[in-house]
Amino acid sequence: MKIVVRIFVLLITLAGGIYLGKVFFGRGSTIPAPVPTYFNAAGAAGDSSAIGAGVVTGQTYNIKPGQSIQDAVGKAKPGDLIRIFPGVYHETIYIDKDNISIQGVIEEGEWPVLDGEKKLNDAVLYSGNGVLVENLKIMNYKGNGIMGQAGNNYIIRNNWIVGSGVYGIFPQFGKNGLVERNILTGIEDAAIYIGMCDNIDVRFNEVYGNVAGIEIENSRHALVEYNYAHDNTGGILAFLTPGLPIKTCADVIIRNNFVYHNNTKNFGAVGSTVSHIPKGTGVLVMAADDVTIENNIITGNSNSGITITDYAFAGINHANDPESEPNPDRLTLLDNFMDNNGTDPIDEVKALKKATFSKPGLDIIAAGGGTGNCIINPDRYITIGLNKYANCSAHDTHLVKSYMLDKPVLPRNTTSIEKGKMTYYGVCSGCHAYNTRLIGPPVSVIQAMYKGNAKGIVDFITKPVHKRDDYPEMPPQNYLSEETRQAVAEYILTVQK
Ligand code: HEC
Repeated sequence: MKIVVRIFVLLITLAGGIYLGKVFFGRGSTIPAPVPTYFNAAGAAGDSSAIGAGVVTGQTYNIKPGQSIQDAVGKAKPGDLIRIFPGVYHETIYIDKDNISIQGVIEEGEWPVLDGEKKLNDAVLYSGNGVLVENLKIMNYKGNGIMGQAGNNYIIRNNWIVGSGVYGIFPQFGKNGLVERNILTGIEDAAIYIGMCDNIDVRFNEVYGNVAGIEIENSRHALVEYNYAHDNTGGILAFLTPGLPIKTCADVIIRNNFVYHNNTKNFGAVGSTVSHIPKGTGVLVMAADDVTIENNIITGNSNSGITITDYAFAGINHANDPESEPNPDRLTLLDNFMDNNGTDPIDEVKALKKATFSKPGLDIIAAGGGTGNCIINPDRYITIGLNKYANCSAHDTHLVKSYMLDKPVLPRNTTSIEKGKMTYYGVCSGCHAYNTRLIGPPVSVIQAMYKGNAKGIVDFITKPVHKRDDYPEMPPQNYLSEETRQAVAEYILTVQK
């Protein structure tokens, strides 16, 4: 353990030094008060200042304990900054405007705490573009810590999220975003869940004690770098999940991370995708394409260091979604430091090892289909299923500094028809897929129940009653405006796949 930690310290020191103290011990913030100064019009790609969030051109609201953060958001205009002072707040913050910055103020180690008391569903929900959320301690919510719904150009950084329900940080259906320097633990699905996004950097986060540490799902152009993923069920995952409206997960770089001892028993909700992840999973690639895994330290993961799988081996039924291509293709496995993985594999893996007479331990397993995949120095590792892997011609990805764009992208257009669609993709599809059970029942089932009755759906989602014993309760959607609830109810009845 000590040696491993030391190696990691070395890696990080070489790589970026100064971050160590802040990320891994969670101390302090370098954010200058009162106005964030990230913006720099000339910022190069990879420079978070270029993204467009955190640009304060308007008024500053200072919120102290006893005051309502949501009231300030209600009054705020695009370009305003809301500063939250240390103390405890029990509320859900809903941001449906553009260019709003929410900034916790940390004073002598005292943070502003959003405490959902296991009663509230979500801490922060945003649908605006150019939203910044930073320096918050979020605990005891049932649904999401910070969730974005179709907002572009976002920055989520320097937050602690502890024991907050299903997803910790969950930007969904957004383009051009940065998730950095957050610490998340005790999340029963994915702690950092990048769902149906494009052009995202996820870096310098610590995730531990979750089912899935970092999950890149049905997203494109994601850079996952310098994260510390330990003691989850699965550390870092790149997934193509069937049944979602976006049908690809591609161009993901997983590099310079420390993926250690992800051996926590799976405590995911029955039926959720992540409930299938075996404990002891370091890095997992399922049906995603063009994934590069480079320069990580992957040690002590008891099932396997890196698992590469198609749907069939993972036990995922995708019969209802022929558009989701089930194989991981064109993966590039570059040099990684791997040791002490696969000491206690699951039965399926044990059987494979027996059949191949492989020696104890397992660094990399590739199971099922996939073409165009390659690895360098395969002889360094204990592997199964890599015989079809070619020798890679690429040796590193140093030319990719960032996948964020060098200019903010335009906000999504929000006509009322678009609104229903965006809300469906942004909110409902996290739990409902067309023909697959996710957290909630399939959309096809909902359509059969509510044919021609959008009003019935509006009533249900405004104040859900618990109906099915084998499903959890659905969280109320009454934070959405009435118009939005109507629009999404109409849209869900038209969804076809
Ligand atoms: C956090 C997960 C989650 C989200 C987000 C979610 N749902 Fe659900 N939904 C559920 C679960 C779980 C059930 C099953 C609840 C039960 O049977 O008690 C459900 C059930 C339903 C039903 C069936 C109602 C009935 O009469 O049986 C409808 C309709 C529905 N959801 C619509 C929506 C819409 C529209 C959205 C988006 C605005 C949405 N849901 C977002 C989890 C979710």
